[in-house]
Amino acid sequence: MSIKSIQKTFGYENYQVAEGLRYFKPESTKFESRFAKEIHHSLQQKQKFISPKFFYDDRGSRLFKKICSLPEYYLTRIEIEILKKLKFSLPQYIEQQFRLVELGSGSSIKTRLLLDVLDKTQDTIEYMPIDISDILKEESLNLQKEYDNLQITGIIDTYETGLEFIKDYDKKPNLIAFLGSSFGNFSPKSGFEFLKKINNAMKESDLFLIGLDLIKDKDVLEDAYNDSQGITAQFNLNILQRINQELDGNFNLENFSHVAFYNDDENRIEMYLRSLENQSVQITKANLLLSFEKDELIHTENSYKYSITKIHELLKSAGFNIIKIWQDENSYFALILASKQQLDGISTSKT
Ligand code: AVJ
Repeated sequence: MSIKSIQKTFGYENYQVAEGLRYFKPESTKFESRFAKEIHHSLQQKQKFISPKFFYDDRGSRLFKKICSLPEYYLTRIEIEILKKLKFSLPQYIEQQFRLVELGSGSSIKTRLLLDVLDKTQDTIEYMPIDISDILKEESLNLQKEYDNLQITGIIDTYETGLEFIKDYDKKPNLIAFLGSSFGNFSPKSGFEFLKKINNAMKESDLFLIGLDLIKDKDVLEDAYNDSQGITAQFNLNILQRINQELDGNFNLENFSHVAFYNDDENRIEMYLRSLENQSVQITKANLLLSFEKDELIHTENSYKYSITKIHELLKSAGFNIIKIWQDENSYFALILASKQQLDGISTSKT
């Protein structure tokens, strides 16, 4: 299939921003009403919740960047430390020409570290970020200015659709990166389903690189989500402000507080917003009139932590073959390189 025809299948419009920089985006604005619909549903449940994917409006994305450089938030710092070491140990696995496909347009530092690895052995480097947010454009423009041999094709869409898109794109091997422990937001069941989707989108020659936060001392984990400057609290509360702005809500942010703790049984950080008093809130564009009891919690995020044993089980069951696991010296964080399991042993006898 030609790129033109897959583009058509996905209803993508092609925006050529500059030489070496284009992005695909669905013509329809199917996402706009999704926020209202999901909020309408999720805030009417017995345990009220808001999906963490809604954290990342402009302000939320800026606050998340701040979180990444907080002293308590070891995740980003340590993942970068490990990525720096990949400069020496990743090239042996990517001897052919690889395209970097990134789920989430990501932190520019991490993307650069991976592009630099490709740059060492390739004349032109190709980067394909997949991200639902328009932030992709800004980050890509910055990257494009820095490398003169970089071809960027961004896909502004959900990961699921983006993955379908790359599946038939061409024969060039992809290095699919899913960094930052973003996978931690998935429940075990939906995480497994998502890994199978990634696996299904892969060709035999493709590689998958995933960054996962590891189970560790509870205090270290809890400090990472309860930073002393209160940035994580602002990040959490921003979701209410976003609802106020975009869905015409009247949350009083002073009446809610940030809560985050580690749940040992489930191996996850749980994040909530606590109602500080009995109160009612109206969200006009989600057609909601809500009442909150004092101390009632809105669940806003789960952030799962993994053990190396669990990582082996999970990836194997989703059809991957682990090639290599890199960790820092304290085993705080892991980067895992995997390929698609080949269907050896199952002999299809043709007569
Ligand atoms: C982007 C999902 C990896 O869970 O650590 C940071 C989001 N939430 N601080 C994480 C987050 C609170 C982050 N992930």
